[in-house]
Amino acid sequence: MWLECKHDDQSTIVAHRDHQLQQHKKPCIFPLDSTITLLKSMELCGASALAWRTSISPSLHSSPQPTSVSEFRRVRVWCVKTDVNDSSQSVKGNQMTVSITGATGFIGSKLVQRLYEDNHSICVLTRSRSKAQSIFPVKDFPGIVIAEEPQWKDCIQKSTGVVNLAGLPISTRWSSEIKKEIKQSRIGVTSKVVDSINSSTSDARPKVLVSATAVGYYGTSETQVFDEQSPSGNDYLSEVCREWEGKALAVDKDVRLALIRIGVVLGKDGGALAKMVPIFMMFAGGPLGSGKQWFSWIHIDDLVNLLCEALSNPSYKGVINGTAPNPVRLAEMCQHLGSVMGRPSWLPVPDLALKAVLGEGAIVVLEGQRVLPVRAKELGFSYKYPYIKEALKAILAQKVVV
Ligand SMILES: NC(=O)c1ccc[n+]([C@@H]2O[C@H](COP(=O)([O-])OP(=O)(O)OC[C@H]3O[C@@H](n4cnc5c(N)ncnc54)[C@H](OP(=O)(O)O)[C@@H]3O)[C@@H](O)[C@H]2O)c1
Repeated sequence: MWLECKHDDQSTIVAHRDHQLQQHKKPCIFPLDSTITLLKSMELCGASALAWRTSISPSLHSSPQPTSVSEFRRVRVWCVKTDVNDSSQSVKGNQMTVSITGATGFIGSKLVQRLYEDNHSICVLTRSRSKAQSIFPVKDFPGIVIAEEPQWKDCIQKSTGVVNLAGLPISTRWSSEIKKEIKQSRIGVTSKVVDSINSSTSDARPKVLVSATAVGYYGTSETQVFDEQSPSGNDYLSEVCREWEGKALAVDKDVRLALIRIGVVLGKDGGALAKMVPIFMMFAGGPLGSGKQWFSWIHIDDLVNLLCEALSNPSYKGVINGTAPNPVRLAEMCQHLGSVMGRPSWLPVPDLALKAVLGEGAIVVLEGQRVLPVRAKELGFSYKYPYIKEALKAILAQKVVV
C-alpha cells in the first residue's frame, strides 16, 4: 500500500530509506509501512508539515501495519524548503552525527530536540541510561543512541561533531567537597572527550568539538566590559573555567574547537530563571541586592542556535561568548521580570532568599559581569531575542513542559 501526500506550498519531502536517498517531486509517494515515521517526522518539521497533515489522503488514517523499532530506525524523512526556481532539490545542510555530554540537562535536552528535529543522528553520552531514556523515550526519539561511559569513546569516534556540556550544577551550597566536584566533573568529562577524539585515527575523527565554558571566566565587575579578548578573573569560578577550557584546548589541532562562554541561560524549564520566578512571586519582585550588578543573559533558543551554528559552520572557532548583545543591570532585569509577571517591582528581593535556592551559586546572579558577544556579532550570528524584555515575555508565555 502507498500513501500519497499533496503539498500546499513549495515544501518537498525527501525520503531516505535503507541509506538510499530518494528525492521526490510533488506529489510524493511512500509505502504505508513507513507512514508512522512519516507522520512523526512531518510533525517535527513544524507548521508547514502540520498543514500537510490535514491534506493527507484518507488512506493514511487506516490502521497501518505494525511498525517495528528497527523500522523506525531505518526510515528517515526530511522536510525541506526548495527554491521555486531551482529544480534540483537539496537537503538543507549536511547531516551530522553528534555525540553530546550533558545531553540530559537543561541546555543539552533542548539541543538534542533541535538536532533531532533537523534530522541529525544523535548519541547521548550519559552517566545513566535510565535517566536518559526517561528524558528521550524511544517513542518520541526513535533512533537516538544512548551511551553510558564505557561506550562513549566508540560513539565519539563515529561522530562528525561533539558537544561537551557536562558538569555538576553550580547552583548548590559550595562545601569544599562540592567545589572540588564542580571543577572535577567538568575537567574529567572534557579530558575523556578529548582523549577519545585524539586517540582516533585522523581520517575517522570528529571534525569539530563544541565545548561549553562560562562567562564566569572573566570574574565579576560592576564597571568593566568583557569580550573574548579580556583576561580571566581571579575568583573560584574563573579558575574552574580556565582549567575546563584548558582541557578542551588539548584537542588535536586538526579538530575545530569552539569554546562557548555561556552567560545566564533563560528558559522556562530550568536554569536560574526557573528558580528565580518563585522568589519573585513570594516577594514583590524588586531588584536583587543593589541592582547595579550586570546580568549577561541569553535566551535558551538563541544558545541552542549558536551551538548548532558552531557545529556546522567552519568559521566558528576559538572562544565565542554565548550571551545576548544587550546585557542589563540586575535592577533592569528585575523590573522587566516584575512587569512581565504582573508583579510590582518596588520591594527588593533579599540576597538571602536567592542564596537559599541557588546556594553560593547565586554569585552568578548577585555578582555579575558585563559580557559582550563580539565574536558572534562578527560571525553574523542572528539573535531571535536580543532584548531581555522580549526574551522574558516569550519564556513566561510558554507552558511548562513536564
Ligand atoms: N544554565 C546556565 O545558565 C549555564 C550558564 C553558563 C554555563 N553553563 C554550563 O553549560 C553546561 C550545561 O548547563 P545546564 O544548565 O544544561 O546543566 P545541567 O542542567 O545541570 O546539566 C548538566 C549535565 O551534566 C551531567 N552531570 C551532572 N553532574 C555531573 C557530574 N558530577 N559529573 C559528570 N557529569 C555530570 C548530567 O548529565 P548525565 O546525568 O546524563 O550524565 C547533567 O544532565 C554546564 O557545564 C554549565 O556549567 C550553563
